[in-house]
Amino acid sequence: MTGPLTVALLGGGTVGAQVARLINDSAADFEQRVGAPIHLTAVAVQDTTKPRPGVPAGLITDDAMAVATSGVDIIVEVMGGIEPARSLILAAMAAGSSVVTANKALLAADGASLHAAAAKHGVDLYFEASVAGAIPLLRPLRESLAGDQVIKVMGIVNGTTNYMLSKMDEEGADYDDVFAEAEALGYLEADPSLDVDGHDAAAKAAILAELAFHTKVTLDDVYCEGISKVTAADIRAAQQMGFVIKLLAVAEIKGDNEGVIVRVHPSMVPRDHPLASVRGAFNAVFIEAQSAGQMMFYGRGAGGAPTASAVLGDVISAARNRVTGGRGPGQSTYSNLAVLPIGEAMTRYYVNLDVTDRPGVLATIAGAFSDNGVSIQVVRQDGHGDEAGLLLRTHLASDASLRATVDQLRELDTVKRVVGVMRVEGEAGA
Ligand code: NAP
Ligand code: HSE
Repeated sequence: MTGPLTVALLGGGTVGAQVARLINDSAADFEQRVGAPIHLTAVAVQDTTKPRPGVPAGLITDDAMAVATSGVDIIVEVMGGIEPARSLILAAMAAGSSVVTANKALLAADGASLHAAAAKHGVDLYFEASVAGAIPLLRPLRESLAGDQVIKVMGIVNGTTNYMLSKMDEEGADYDDVFAEAEALGYLEADPSLDVDGHDAAAKAAILAELAFHTKVTLDDVYCEGISKVTAADIRAAQQMGFVIKLLAVAEIKGDNEGVIVRVHPSMVPRDHPLASVRGAFNAVFIEAQSAGQMMFYGRGAGGAPTASAVLGDVISAARNRVTGGRGPGQSTYSNLAVLPIGEAMTRYYVNLDVTDRPGVLATIAGAFSDNGVSIQVVRQDGHGDEAGLLLRTHLASDASLRATVDQLRELDTVKRVVGVMRVEGEAGA
């Protein structure tokens, strides 16, 4: 056994309080696992008067910069946001501390500065908790799959929107009702648009894509659509076709390393796809790699204790590195791939139309698809009076062609209303 390793926290909220509790409760086990005792030295917060059960009162301070530069072995950043978190992390690394963070927003906005500083100062930067909470996902991508070529990562990485969409699917509830319910349960972020407009999932998608494809990806590279336009009619149409709607984060390689496409949007997923059975606030990520094939990671994507579990896994890794004198793997972005626009993604669409019910209308509509080189896979027609409801699903086509098709359909006078349009993922061959 070597001398004690010191750990300090920047943040003592939902996640930080659980990290502090577990460091104290599991001290004897951690000492055995690391080969040295771990001592918590400080917890920086904003309001030192708030009660924080499980956090030793004597460790609480509001001087975050003093904590960051105290030269402890490991700084755990669980305060969130871009600043002052970035400055504090950079200061901690300059002072020789390894850093563990759960801060997806900062990593997706400016991970490059953090990785560069970690390399410069010879310290570790671990961030397992930043994507999908408790689920071990980044370490498998960074280490276990380092000898493989990842082709596609596709997942449910925002629990709040998955809870809302599951409720809409199970109960036929409207968006506004499930939003109010998620708010009452405290699921929504302080700024709900981070959840419902897809920005939280987009930050996680950027982090996943960078690790999976060894190339730099930031939040600005991610195409993003949220769930606020998903209607009860979309849910019903999905059910009729044997699908379920999920907010998916998708990162994929196009062609022979032509580039990567990273996107977040509501998608219809076949009910027999493993992601379809992920209900409530759970997360799951499906990875496809050249040699390993397909695999799925499933579990709790949020919450104090689950997220603290991932943070502590990183703390143990960083602590072991201190004991053995090594460093964990750094970020590799050697492949330097282009990030391609959404128009180049190959997807399928579902299109739900109200049309005039008279001879030749179907042919006109089929013509709009054919004009844009889009092949129709399934058509369902349901007549009502002198109008008909048409549900169409396409074969794979470029997103640009599919959009052009929908634009053309909107111009047809036989199309009374475009009721819904959504991408379809997870069908065999897609
Ligand atoms: P939180 O409950 O809001 O806690 C934030 C903590 O940071 C609070 O203790 C706050 O102090 C402190 N803080 C904020 N600004 C500060 C400043 N300028 N100086 C000193 N202390 C400051 O947030 P959280 O839910 O624990 O999330 C922390 C991080 O984990 C975020 O990056 C989040 O994205 C990530 N994360 C959270 C979850 C989750 O389920 N909660 C899941 C995955 C990842 P006060 O307590 O005095 O306000
Ligand atoms: N708002 C996020 C979610 C929290 O709902 O998944 C975890 O990152």
